[in-house]
Amino acid sequence: MAEYTSILVEREEKVGIITLNRPKELNALNFQLVNELADALEEFDRDEAIGCIILTGSGEKAFAAGADIKEMADKSPIDMLLGGFESWGRIRKIHTPVIAAVNGYALGGGCELAMHCDIILASENARFGQPEILIGVIPGAGGTQRLARTLGKYRTMEIVLTGSPINAKELESLGLVNHVVPQSELMNEARKLANKIAGQAPIAVRMAKEAVLSAFETSLEEGLDIERKNFFLLFATEDMREGMRAFIEKRQAHFQGK
Ligand code: CAA
Repeated sequence: MAEYTSILVEREEKVGIITLNRPKELNALNFQLVNELADALEEFDRDEAIGCIILTGSGEKAFAAGADIKEMADKSPIDMLLGGFESWGRIRKIHTPVIAAVNGYALGGGCELAMHCDIILASENARFGQPEILIGVIPGAGGTQRLARTLGKYRTMEIVLTGSPINAKELESLGLVNHVVPQSELMNEARKLANKIAGQAPIAVRMAKEAVLSAFETSLEEGLDIERKNFFLLFATEDMREGMRAFIEKRQAHFQGK
């Protein structure tokens, strides 16, 4: 593992855990942190032994309170363009499933980062929101698009135009948060879910993630084609033979990622 200064990186068997680690700044996402995060996610993504990644924030207060306003305040458009914003694109392209364990504020870029993940667990005290409008800008890392695709136009407009925070329970009822759990249980629940996913056939997991994500980026026709091709492709894997044989023989399947 490379050396990082703004994140903590651990592995627990098949699960990689990344903790955003600027607690005094409520894990505000400066360029260095976002670059390190993209590097660490890619490092786990290349590691065939890792089947799922958990992303969380250090401290009890925040997952991430957004892009670092102090760093951005004097920047020009060119600084923003060259400063590392493309790391968000790298985060989007991770093949391994990523679970966000949102342990407090997920505001601005923090909310957008949670939405880059594939499953969102949140503690009861978590607060989400896109408050960029309050500082004279708009979401810049996918907030308008991912919220609108999940919540629809009207709730998204209210969130983006007022900057008001939303609690985790409301987002659970709206389908953006998978489960809300007590703060003390958050990482346990994330680990349970991550281990369950990491225990499945790895190539099938990758194909499944790709197929679901294609629903947000293609027409229904193209998405159905991607799903069907991925489904057929899995008939070339040993894990497919093993999975079906194990079912017929009434035993646990042992997947090897081949
Ligand atoms: N950037 C830089 N520093 C931040 C920060 C941010 N986004 N959020 C919090 N901090 C810092 C504070 O400045 C403070 O530092 P000091 O002690 O040195 O003053 C420290 O973290 C603790 O924060 P508060 O004292 O404000 O804590 P609080 O409990 O009173 O309030 C909060 C918590 C409501 C989250 C508040 O900090 C807040 O509103 N933060 C800003 C949220 C925000 O506007 N996020 C959007 C950023 S823009 C963006 O993300 C663009 C994009 O789409 C990529």
